[in-house]
Amino acid sequence: MKIAITGASGKTGYRISEEAIKKGFKVKLIIRKNSKISEELKSLETFRVSLDNKEDLDKALKDVNALVIATGARPSLDLTGPAKVDALGVFRQLESCKRVGIKRVILVSSLCTGKLFHPLNLFGLILIWKKIGENFLQNSNLKWTIIRPGGLKENEDIKSENINYSKEDTQINGSIPRRLVAKCCIDSLSNNDSVNKIIEVTSSNNNKKISFKKAMQII
Ligand SMILES: NC(=O)c1ccc[n+]([C@@H]2O[C@H](COP(=O)([O-])OP(=O)(O)OC[C@H]3O[C@@H](n4cnc5c(N)ncnc54)[C@H](OP(=O)(O)O)[C@@H]3O)[C@@H](O)[C@H]2O)c1
Repeated sequence: MKIAITGASGKTGYRISEEAIKKGFKVKLIIRKNSKISEELKSLETFRVSLDNKEDLDKALKDVNALVIATGARPSLDLTGPAKVDALGVFRQLESCKRVGIKRVILVSSLCTGKLFHPLNLFGLILIWKKIGENFLQNSNLKWTIIRPGGLKENEDIKSENINYSKEDTQINGSIPRRLVAKCCIDSLSNNDSVNKIIEVTSSNNNKKISFKKAMQII
């Protein structure tokens, strides 16, 4: 199975790429013209495109079975970033999926999407635009999974971190290492029970260990 990963230059995106390779997927990275990727990923098939360019995006997404969307507006003074990337950018990626025949999409979103009164919204109402991006996917007729992580952490020591998986709008606090979010994205691709589900994820050493497969049967 070959998958495309957009936002593969991001801190979650590169980990999704690594986890995909570990699980034996063929991987195509889709990044921006000036995106920087780590040395380890440089040998992989890579397309540098703008999400605004339909033709280039279609070419990049051709011949893959699934797309993992790990794009997200980077914090900046440009408060239009979330609207452009987390809503319109997702919409454009989904339109391209439909044109080229991709049927399966995983979206990295966030806890609390859709909430108006939240400090994160100081950055261009990001939680509102992310919810609109999610809605585009849910209404797309594609097979979708939305992963909503809590605050993302950089630590790679995940041995004692167990994931709390839950259905939509059930968690509002908490955090999770990006490495575990990456694993959830790849687990979703291998598990049909994740199709058409919103999965909220945080982690801590207080949670009981549960497999992704089992969690999907419960939520
Ligand atoms: N930070 C948190 O605590 C948190 C919590 C929950 C959810 N999230 C969400 O989780 C996702 C991953 O977060 P992260 O912190 O790991 O990501 P990140 O490191 O900020 O990476 C963002 C990725 O999106 C790409 N991107 C940004 N603007 C783009 C555009 N206009 N066109 C194409 N690509 C664009 C970036 O490309 P370049 O490398 O070229 O900039 C990069 O690959 C994001 O959607 C984020 O909103 C974050």
